[in-house]
Amino acid sequence: MRILFLSTAHNSLSQRAFVELRDLGHDVYVQIASSNNVMEEAVKVYKPDLIIAPFLKKYIPESIWSKHTCIIIHPGIKGDRGPSSLDWAILNEEEKWGVILLQANENLDAGDIWASQNFTMKAVSKSNLYRHEVSDAAIKCLLEAIEKFQSKKFIPEKLDYNHNDVKGREHKPMKQGYRSIDWTESTATIAKKIRSADSQPGLLDTIYGEEYYLYGVHEEDNFKGKPGEIIAKRNGAICRVTGDGAVWITHIKMKNQGKYIYYKLPATQILNKHLKDVPELPYENNTKERTFKEIWYEEQNNVGYLYFEFYNGAMSTDQCTRLKEAYIEAKKRDTKVIVLMGGADFWSNGIHLNVIESSDNPADESWSNINAIDDLIKEIILTNTHIVISAMRGNAAAGGVMLALAADKVVALNRIVLNPHYKKMGLYGSEYWTYLLPKRIGIEKAIEITENCITLSTKSAKNIGLIDSTFDEVNFKNELVKMAEELAISSLCKNMLEQKRYKRKEDENIKPLEAYRKEELGKMWDNFYSHNEIYHTARKRFVYKLSCVEELPKNII
Ligand code: COA
Repeated sequence: MRILFLSTAHNSLSQRAFVELRDLGHDVYVQIASSNNVMEEAVKVYKPDLIIAPFLKKYIPESIWSKHTCIIIHPGIKGDRGPSSLDWAILNEEEKWGVILLQANENLDAGDIWASQNFTMKAVSKSNLYRHEVSDAAIKCLLEAIEKFQSKKFIPEKLDYNHNDVKGREHKPMKQGYRSIDWTESTATIAKKIRSADSQPGLLDTIYGEEYYLYGVHEEDNFKGKPGEIIAKRNGAICRVTGDGAVWITHIKMKNQGKYIYYKLPATQILNKHLKDVPELPYENNTKERTFKEIWYEEQNNVGYLYFEFYNGAMSTDQCTRLKEAYIEAKKRDTKVIVLMGGADFWSNGIHLNVIESSDNPADESWSNINAIDDLIKEIILTNTHIVISAMRGNAAAGGVMLALAADKVVALNRIVLNPHYKKMGLYGSEYWTYLLPKRIGIEKAIEITENCITLSTKSAKNIGLIDSTFDEVNFKNELVKMAEELAISSLCKNMLEQKRYKRKEDENIKPLEAYRKEELGKMWDNFYSHNEIYHTARKRFVYKLSCVEELPKNII
């Protein structure tokens, strides 16, 4: 079928739906729905059999929905209406929530129902919920709706509030006032409120007399103090006292009052001048209580598991350096296999574009960051004491994908989406991609994917050999542990290590690893320091979240 997506952005759900439908053989076209005209024009050009709105903040014009079947993905249970569904679901502590697919008509979120799925809520941020539970449910609904549409027999169900299974209702758009924080409230309440607004728009609060949006909340069980007080810092996060404990906040964003910086940054970076007397309290590995941790290590049956949970998967110079140090420590352990676990939300999205943007000299910081991630990846490639497995549980992009490929084996959760390319950011790319990518998928495929900025499902990534295995959510942990432990005890391990050393030597003789890095960094130097500014402009647009039609405001150029 010819399927047209009308979407406000080609976001994580839209990308996932796109790759799933493309894998099924459909022709899928994506149109960013910037105006009614643009939508109407896209319908004329693509002549779709079916229109899907994976993430649409506008109404579809009547000229379209009156002539074509348009199905809207709404992150709510049957009967739920309004633009802030997930915010309310988190704030109201719903135990179950869901996704419905509705046919577009003149009433927002009240069209006939094509499919619905419910899921159990988890104590995670709104965007985490969206990328995982919502996205899984949406894909199930989408496949069901497409089948029903193709059957030509299905009549979608009218929304009827008298029906037993219609438990939702219309919600007002969420405003900051509905979830504002009083720091004498409990940790649970404060964490819930912050999560309901993370990643957008963030929960507005006052810190040291200034207004900031808060993100990346983690409960802290060990510290107490005067409610509202900031009592500790750790790896960029601040720890603030609540009525019955404390929470960590990893990122904040200045309220845009014409000020220069209005994008998310590590909290301590923005509040630096106030935090001189606040102690830096490092994470102690193996703490059982709830706290904030970015990098941690676990070990079991000859296998080391190295976790790195970076907000949004972005890895600054400091984070890359700390991860490299943790990896070196993991290599010193008497184990046979190291599993790189990444984060539960993201695997990695490469260098930290926000931190780079905020630095006094973004070109210099880009250079430091790319060298730091290259150093980490080099350490992994040159590991000859352990078999290394990358266990990708979250989405990955650009250098983040290459980081995974540095391991000997790459396994992925079947729901994730991979974007192994740099071009949209105006970058040639480094992270040894010119070595790692062709090694797995051949030079032609590597060029096709990087030049055309192709998004991959794990199914297609496995088909072309980019990754080795995929596991579903239910079996991921067990399958991974089984795979790692079998490798660690088997005599295979010794053989594999020997083969690995031999192959590395062979590769080194063909072309030294350093030569790949030198060539890549030569091109990256041009990207960072040349006068054409393509990368710097692309980065600013990305960080300030400007659409392709918006001008860069004068105060940020
Ligand atoms: N640095 C800083 N923040 C990043 C990031 C990076 N490298 N990659 C993603 N993010 C942030 C986004 O700004 C967004 O922030 P939010 O919390 O304010 O919403 C969040 O991560 C999710 O990304 P988003 O772009 O909304 O998700 P998506 O699913 O639509 O797109 C990507 C995913 C990875 C394709 C897109 O984020 C991207 O192109 N990232 C940049 C990758 C890159 O070029 N890295 C540098 C080269 S190594």
